[in-house]
Amino acid sequence: MGSSSTRAVTSKMNIENDNRFSDEPGVADGLMDGLNRPIHDLRVSVTDRCNFRCVYCMPKEQFGKGYKFLSKGELLSFEEIVRLVRAFSDLGVRKIRLTGGEPLVRSELEKLVEQLASIEKINDISLTTNAVLLTEKRARSLRDAGLGRVNISLDALDDETFMAVNDVGVPVQKVLDGISIAAAAGFDSVKVNMVVKRGLNEHSILPMAEYFHGTDQILRFIEFMDVGNTNSWKNSEVVTAAEIADMIGTRLPIEKIPPNYRGEVANRWRYLDGGGEIGIIASVSEPFCGDCSRARLSAVGKLYTCLFAADGHDLMGLLRSGVPEADFSAKLTSIWRNRRDRYSETRTTESVLRPKVEMSFIGG
Ligand code: GTP
Ligand code: 5AD
Ligand code: SF4
Ligand code: SF4
Repeated sequence: MGSSSTRAVTSKMNIENDNRFSDEPGVADGLMDGLNRPIHDLRVSVTDRCNFRCVYCMPKEQFGKGYKFLSKGELLSFEEIVRLVRAFSDLGVRKIRLTGGEPLVRSELEKLVEQLASIEKINDISLTTNAVLLTEKRARSLRDAGLGRVNISLDALDDETFMAVNDVGVPVQKVLDGISIAAAAGFDSVKVNMVVKRGLNEHSILPMAEYFHGTDQILRFIEFMDVGNTNSWKNSEVVTAAEIADMIGTRLPIEKIPPNYRGEVANRWRYLDGGGEIGIIASVSEPFCGDCSRARLSAVGKLYTCLFAADGHDLMGLLRSGVPEADFSAKLTSIWRNRRDRYSETRTTESVLRPKVEMSFIGG
C-alpha cells in the first residue's frame, strides 16, 4: 500500500508543478527559447568533485591525482546561487535540481536548500546523488530544510560489477543503505538511476528490476550518453531503451503509461502484476529535445543551455561586476530567447567528437 500511495502523491505533485502550459500570468505567455520551449527547470551543480570515479563519467585516467579540481574560492557562494535562482524564477523556473559532481561533498548543503525553499516561485527542490554521504542526520536535515525529492545512482547489485563502475571500491550495500535512509527520511519520492553500458553492466538490468519491483523506489534505466569528451563513448555500447524494455518484459511483463507531465525525461512503464513502475531514459535512441525546458548552472556560475554544450555563459562574472538587476534579467532573457540547442536530435559521428562540457562539471 505504501508504494502506490507514494507514487500517487508524486505524480499529482509533478502535474501541479508543471505550470509551463498553465494559465499563470508570465508563464504561459512568458519567455520562450528559439524553438518555443519555456525555461522551467534549473539544474545547479554545487561542486565538480566526486567520491566516485564512474567509468562513464569521471574515468580515472582523466580525473586522477593530477586533475585540478575547483578551489572553494572559485565556486559560487550559496548567496550567489540563491540570487541567481531568484532571477531565474522570475523568468519561469519552478524546479531546482542540485547536482555535482557529488553534491553531498559540499558542506552545509542543507543551508542552501533552506534558502532556495524560501523563494516563492520555486516549488520543487530535488537532489541527484550517489548517496554514500547520506547519513540519517543529513537526510533528516535536508528534508527539514525543504528538499522534496532524491534521485540515487546505482548501476549494479553485485559488488564486482558495481566496483568496476565506481572504480573506487565502494560496495553495493553502501548505496542500498543510502536508499533506505532516504526512504525512511520521508522525501516525497526516491528514485534510483542506473546508467546502462554494454559490456559493463547490462547483465544487471534484470536483477535491478527484480530488486526494486514492488518497492516504493522507481528504478530508471539511462542509456549511456556521449556527454563530455573523456568517456570514450561508442554508439555500439548503448543498450537501447527498446532492448531494455524487451529484456525486462520477458521476465516481468510491462506496459507503457503516459508521462506525468509534458517533457518528462523518462518514459514510464508499469508492471502488469501491480509491482509499480519503471522509467527508461532514451536520450540516444529517442531524444526528447523537443520539450527540453532545462538549463544548467555550473559550480563556477556558467549557464549551459544544453548538456552537450561546449561552453556556458559567465553569470558569476556578471553578478560580481555588480550589474543592475534589470540588466541581469535582460541578459538571461536574451540568452534563453536565442537558445536553439537540440544536440541529441542532431547527433552525428562528427558531433560526438566536438568539445563538450564534462558531466561532472554540470551534473546530470
Ligand atoms: P525528475 O523527473 O525531476 O525526477 O528528474 P530527472 O529525471 O530529470 O533527473 P535526473 O537527474 O535523475 O536525470 C536522470 C538522467 O537523465 C540524467 O542523469 C541524465 O543522464 C539524463 N538527462 C536528464 N536531463 C537530460 C537532458 O536534458 N538531456 C539529456 N540528453 N539527458 C538528460
Ligand atoms: N550517460 C548517461 N548518464 C550519465 N550520468 C553520468 N554520466 C552519464 C553518461 N555518460 C548520470 C549518472 C547520474 C547522474 C549524475 O548522471 O548516472 O544519475
Ligand atoms: Fe560521481 Fe555521479 Fe559522475 Fe559517478 S556519475 S562519477 S557518482 S558524478
Ligand atoms: Fe535538452 Fe540538450 Fe538534452 Fe536535448 S540534448 S534534451 S536540448 S539538454
